[in-house]
Amino acid sequence: MVSGIEVFPVKSLLDVIHFVNAGNGIAPVKVDGDTLLGEAQHYAVDFKDVRGQQTAKRALEISCAGGHNILMIGPPGSGKTMLAKRMPTILPPFTFEEALETTKIHSVAGVLDAGAGLVGVRPFRSPHHTISDAGLLGGGMIPRPGEVLAHNGVLFLDELPEFPRNVLEVMRQPLEDGTVCIARAAMSLTFPARFMLATVMNPCPCGFHNDRSRGSRCTPPMIQRYIAKISGPLMDRVDIHIDVPGVNYKEMRSTSVPEGSERIRERVMQARQIQLQRFAGSRKKIYCNAQMSSSHVRSFCELNADCERLLERAMTQQGLSARAHDRILKVARTIADLESGPAIQPKHIAEAIQYRTLDRTYWA
Ligand SMILES: Nc1ncnc2c1ncn2[C@@H]1O[C@H](COP(=O)(O)OP(=O)(O)OP(=O)(O)O)[C@@H](O)[C@H]1O
Ligand SMILES: [Mg+2]
Repeated sequence: MVSGIEVFPVKSLLDVIHFVNAGNGIAPVKVDGDTLLGEAQHYAVDFKDVRGQQTAKRALEISCAGGHNILMIGPPGSGKTMLAKRMPTILPPFTFEEALETTKIHSVAGVLDAGAGLVGVRPFRSPHHTISDAGLLGGGMIPRPGEVLAHNGVLFLDELPEFPRNVLEVMRQPLEDGTVCIARAAMSLTFPARFMLATVMNPCPCGFHNDRSRGSRCTPPMIQRYIAKISGPLMDRVDIHIDVPGVNYKEMRSTSVPEGSERIRERVMQARQIQLQRFAGSRKKIYCNAQMSSSHVRSFCELNADCERLLERAMTQQGLSARAHDRILKVARTIADLESGPAIQPKHIAEAIQYRTLDRTYWA
């Protein structure tokens, strides 16, 4: 994969000797990383299979465009799992550097396809909730990475409250600094683990809290206990929270075909291109808005007076916490990038604030 050199493949040292003596007989291999990464993937699923859910689709588009962690909350059967499983169809293609990083981790874990050379598409990992903390992070005598193989891709945790608390707790380190450190008696190793976290849950044990048509049988303490399983530090690191209500009959039976993944992906790719240019000169390698540090946020998310007023009002009157502040700005930056707009406008801030509403309803 190194550009600018010729690579002659040999099977044995004898081949090398023949090659050196004769100087011919072997053609150099040509691997074109750009074509490999640019290849269109074919998926069996598509966003046009999902009826209604415009808000959720929009949120997923923003999340994939800026690499933002996302949580979907809704009643059973509203299409949450269906939506999340379609994320790979709109993720932007790898840059060459990202593909190399992810390939290295797959190689260390021993799961690189023979002959693949390079992991060409962003990983989408969806471990079951019976997974152990070692399975998630990695482990073994000679430490190997676990589900952090999702580096530069998506880690999807369906039915989040079903995961044991200790398993969710170990996610804090990778979500905080994009690495996991596995310490064993023999050695301790650090792997990069910068993935997008996509998670799904019901709003209460029976699933119908906030559902106008069904109503919930769960009592407030039951709901509190359920939500408390995943509250706190993990939720602090989720940029976008959305409600995914059940679809109604009219939407299900509508004859209009929803927008397909290809169109959505084009917008995502264009927004990601803007971000790559933005961060091309930054000292620490980052690829998308979600990876911005506080100082990046200060320099790349400038606000005019109208935006300032709106954000201030949201923070003071609606009781949004300080931790929501940077997240709102990062998401607003992505929304502006989706419109190719250089400046963040009040409407971008307003939309980003909307994706923090669950902060108030559940984690206030
Ligand atoms: N918006 C939708 N458009 C089309 N089909 C849908 C939609 N929502 C749900 N369905 C149908 O319902 C099935 C169940 O959806 P899905 O598994 O995504 O629900 P869920 O929200 O994850 O539910 P649970 O909370 O029980 O896991 C889907 O396989 C699909 O056939
Ligand atoms: Mg589901």
